[in-house]
Amino acid sequence: MRYPFNAIQKRINDRYYRSRRDIYSDFKTFVDCPKLPYAQAIDFVRHILPLWDGGELNIYDLGVGKGTYSLNFLDAVGQIIGPAHPALKSLNYFICDISFRIAPDVESALRHFNVHRIERDITRGAGFMRKPYYVRSSEMYDDLPAKVMVRDESGIYEVLFDERAAVCGFRRARIDAHTRQHMQLMPPGYHIPINTACAENMLAAASRLRPGGYFDISDYGFSGIDEITMLTQEEFNSSIIRTYGGQPTIDVNFIYLMGKARAARLDCECLPQKAYVERALSQKLYYVELEQLYYMTRRELEENERRLRRFGYELSLLLSGIEEVDDYKHMRVWRSRCHRNI
Ligand SMILES: C[S@@+](CC[C@H](N)C(=O)[O-])C[C@H]1O[C@@H](n2cnc3c(N)ncnc32)[C@H](O)[C@@H]1O
Repeated sequence: MRYPFNAIQKRINDRYYRSRRDIYSDFKTFVDCPKLPYAQAIDFVRHILPLWDGGELNIYDLGVGKGTYSLNFLDAVGQIIGPAHPALKSLNYFICDISFRIAPDVESALRHFNVHRIERDITRGAGFMRKPYYVRSSEMYDDLPAKVMVRDESGIYEVLFDERAAVCGFRRARIDAHTRQHMQLMPPGYHIPINTACAENMLAAASRLRPGGYFDISDYGFSGIDEITMLTQEEFNSSIIRTYGGQPTIDVNFIYLMGKARAARLDCECLPQKAYVERALSQKLYYVELEQLYYMTRRELEENERRLRRFGYELSLLLSGIEEVDDYKHMRVWRSRCHRNI
């Protein structure tokens, strides 16, 4: 049988995330690195708190996972504004997931804040959001059902897959005008993710935002055509689907998402995630992949030299700038009045 990728992804991901097995050993994320949440907390205090009208201060985290991405953010906000700040009392932090598997220590630490659970499939609309000031999501978009398209001189085709997510055929694509225009900009022969469920979620969530509020999306993927063509067709086509523990995820096409946001008259910006964090923290950082993913300062690299060596890193090479580059991006979408500069 041949399937569009979104059908395979929906079926396997639903089963995978609702299963009871320990999924966290299947993949690495920035879960243990508090720098991204800290950077977002700095921005939140700088750009969102001044807009707060003294009422409910609602924040949504979509795809909460183990919970540290949420906890680190809340801790950082508390550190920056101080525990007695009235905003902390009004802050309602909604954690949303298709199935909760928060680590027990994180669960008890989250009790210090007004945290509310919403168990739901995020692809079923954003009507549950109550006027958020801020929405955030890390590494969920690569899980949401996406199509894969390719063009050649005779037209645009949808790539079809077998049960194990291997390419097994093509059919002429039935697509809307926006996707057609997008595909015409893409290099021929390259299999391009069209993250349809992400676009729907992004637009739905953004439509609920308060004026000045924004939505941060962090995930792996690409945000420029040069990032596609720097690889051969074969390399690129075999890299867009990453399978962890039998679960296929797909790179996020941030070019497509930015086009969808702009077509809906939203403002948006997308930066390499490390550059975003470096700017917020005013620190040069280095990307390393150890037990989990980290951005480290020079000092942290030096303190962890032996641990780094165990993972094949040479400190002098890392410091000389011949660094590993991660392909994570940080996209911000907003309706109006938000500071443009992320
Ligand atoms: C890779 S984990 C990332 C967790 C965390 N945000 C982090 O950065 O470590 C993806 C999370 O998204 C959730 N998820 C995946 N698909 C979802 C969907 N359709 N609706 C709601 N949550 C979903 C999963 O259950 C999981 O908790």
